[in-house]
Amino acid sequence: MNIAVVGCGYVGLVSGTCLAALGHQVTGIDVDTKRVASLQAGKVPIYEPGLSEMILQQTAAQRLRFTTDLSSAVREAQVVFVAVGTPPSPEGGYDLSMLFGAVEKIIEAAQSEKTIVIKSTVPPGTGEKVAQLAAKSPHRLEVVNNPEFLREGTAIHDFMNPDRIVFGAGTAEGLAVLREIYQPLIDKGFHILSMGRASAELSKFGANAMLAMRISFINELSRLASAVGADIESVRMGIGSDPRIGPAFLKAGIGYGGSCFPKDVAALVHQMESLGMEPHLLSGIERANQHQRADFVGRVMRAVSDVKSPQIALWGLAFKPDTDDIRESPAIDIARMLVEAGCTVRAFDPEAMDNARRILGDKITYAPDVTSATKGADAVVLATDWSVFITQNWQGIRQIMRGTHVFDGRNCLASGKVGAAGLHYHAVGRPPVKPGGGREGTVGVVVAG
Ligand SMILES: NC(=O)c1ccc[n+]([C@@H]2O[C@H](COP(=O)([O-])OP(=O)(O)OC[C@H]3O[C@@H](n4cnc5c(N)ncnc54)[C@H](O)[C@@H]3O)[C@@H](O)[C@H]2O)c1
Repeated sequence: MNIAVVGCGYVGLVSGTCLAALGHQVTGIDVDTKRVASLQAGKVPIYEPGLSEMILQQTAAQRLRFTTDLSSAVREAQVVFVAVGTPPSPEGGYDLSMLFGAVEKIIEAAQSEKTIVIKSTVPPGTGEKVAQLAAKSPHRLEVVNNPEFLREGTAIHDFMNPDRIVFGAGTAEGLAVLREIYQPLIDKGFHILSMGRASAELSKFGANAMLAMRISFINELSRLASAVGADIESVRMGIGSDPRIGPAFLKAGIGYGGSCFPKDVAALVHQMESLGMEPHLLSGIERANQHQRADFVGRVMRAVSDVKSPQIALWGLAFKPDTDDIRESPAIDIARMLVEAGCTVRAFDPEAMDNARRILGDKITYAPDVTSATKGADAVVLATDWSVFITQNWQGIRQIMRGTHVFDGRNCLASGKVGAAGLHYHAVGRPPVKPGGGREGTVGVVVAG
């Protein structure tokens, strides 16, 4: 099928490239001329494992190309995916101006029957508004919602091996077109869930809010765990072993970030409030998330309170590992808070330094590697659980530091190894480990099997 994908960001690029790999003829369109020029030159402007290689393969096979010319790409396509950004609006809802801007151009350009597929995450009711606009075209334009559930860092795998493919189809014809597009995945046994538009839209929001809620829940519990001498990692197993609950998304830390969870939770709250409903539970999710960062920085500052000008080595800037995305990253907030509290921050991230520099400028310094970031530091603050941080040699780290504190904001380091190197290990909701290796406080015994 001939497909146009409007928006070449994380979702548009991955979806377009994967659709090409499924055998379709795909044109990626973006308004960002630099981005399109870079893609045409074979350079991928975002970091996503495996994506560059796949784009090169698909462009070489002439199944994938990029352009800024929306009109001609739309005219040639049978199906137009919309994957533009839907950022938060100042009032707490969604700013849908890019989405409706793109939709209006698509409708204007269409000179024959087409299907418009909304891939962007949109508040319930948006698909219906797009359908009403499309109905004004002299040509038959079907509108279908097909929310995307991929995760940055594992985006290609997630697109090609979806837990579910959700279709919010207005009509049987729209549904049939989407079925045809995804047929290679349907043949492999992946599930299609076909439902009404608003249900598809709310499914995406509900999934993100549920995941965010689990993170805020375990984080809230982690504060109590610290106060009563419990270890949140043991508690997590105690809770997550129940098959009705499961252990995923129950890892305590400095909280969630990224372009989806914070804005989707805020938009749900906003939509309920604007409909006169009180979101009792939803309104606490982001509050708990923000508190976690401030609480963590407070602990770091107490540990270095006797140092005149504390030097902090910040490990990680991306909102999670295996991406260069820093949108709503807890690490960026933590860097700002540490600087405001009087610290000098030297950061290292394997992929997100350029993006972070655009936001933080010269508030912090950017080190070329872990060692340079850590030399002379009074404390290491791990904010993103990249594997390069997890596999560090702690004896070596101890030798180059000025102080002895290691703050693990993702509960991902081997506490015993950090302690054995003569360092103080501080995690989230876990008893600290003293230099020498033994844990302070009570430790729950975890029996595997
Ligand atoms: N990033 C994720 O992990 C993820 C996962 C699932 C869903 N989503 C949703 O998918 C949507 C896209 O997210 P993203 O992270 O890819 O955003 P992004 O900001 O990375 O990319 C959006 C792209 O759209 C382009 N664009 C904007 N207006 C345009 C127009 N009129 N014509 C052509 N291009 C235009 C921008 O230049 C940009 O390159 C959002 O609604 C988001 O909530 C994101």
